[in-house]
Amino acid sequence: MTRRCFIAGNWKMNKTVSEGLALVRELRGALSMVRDRVEIAVAPPFSALHPVAKALEDSNLVLAAQNCHFEESGAFTGEVSAPMLKEVGCQYVIVGHSERRQFFGDTNEGVGRKAQAVLKAGMSPIVCVGETLAEREGGKTLDVVSAQVKAALGSIPAGQGERVVLAYEPVWAIGTGKTATSRQAQEVHAHVRGLLKELWGTTAQKVRIQYGGSVKPDNAAELLSQPDIDGALVGGASLKAADFAGIVKAKA
Ligand code: 13P
Repeated sequence: MTRRCFIAGNWKMNKTVSEGLALVRELRGALSMVRDRVEIAVAPPFSALHPVAKALEDSNLVLAAQNCHFEESGAFTGEVSAPMLKEVGCQYVIVGHSERRQFFGDTNEGVGRKAQAVLKAGMSPIVCVGETLAEREGGKTLDVVSAQVKAALGSIPAGQGERVVLAYEPVWAIGTGKTATSRQAQEVHAHVRGLLKELWGTTAQKVRIQYGGSVKPDNAAELLSQPDIDGALVGGASLKAADFAGIVKAKA
C-alpha cells in the first residue's frame, strides 16, 4: 500500500496577511517542480485564510485551517465553524493540536466532535495526538495516544476513515528542537495504525499518519523513510520558504 506523502505547514499564530502572502509567493516558486508524489498544505491563521486561498489558486499547494468549532453556527463568540472554513477554500482542518489541548481546554471528546464536523462539511481533519514528557518518562506514551485516538475517531465509520489524517506530535518535541528519533516515532505510528485497524479494518492501511515536532530539512528524510510515517506536520520550519521546501524535497 502506498500512501501519498503529506507535508503540512502549521503557521500557528504567525504571519499577518501581507507576511503570509509573501511566504506563499516564495513557496510557490520553490515548490513548483514538486509533482504528485507529495501533497503540500499550509495552515495560516484564520485572518489570512481567504487571501492565502486566492494566492494558492492554480498551484500545487492546498489550504488547511488550524482549528474549528464543532457546531455549524450559533452564539459562540470568537469561534469559526467547519462550513465557514470549507467555503473559504480549506481542504483540511487541524483538530486537537496539543497547544489547543494545553491552553484552550480542548478535550478528547471535543476533538472527536470537531473531527466529525470537519468530515460533515466535506473536508478532512488532521487529528493531532501525542504524549507529554512526563507521560513518556512514566511509560504511558502508548496508553495516552490510544485514549486520544479512540476518543477522537471512535464514532467515525470505516467508510469515512480514509479521509482522516492523523498527526503524532510528542508534546516534548514541539518547538523544543528535540525530535523523536525515527525509531521512537515509528513505534508510536505503528501502534496508531494498529488502533486504526481495530476501528476500521483494512482502511487503516490507507490512512496517513504525519509526524510533528521539530521537523527540519536535515532530519526529514530519516523520519519520512520509516514505514508508518506518511508525512510531517511542521511548525517553526514552515515559516521560512527555504526550510519548508527543504522538508518537502526530502521526499519529492
Ligand atoms: P515545531 O515544528 O515548531 O516543533 O512544531 C510542530 C507542531 O506543533 C506542528 O503542528
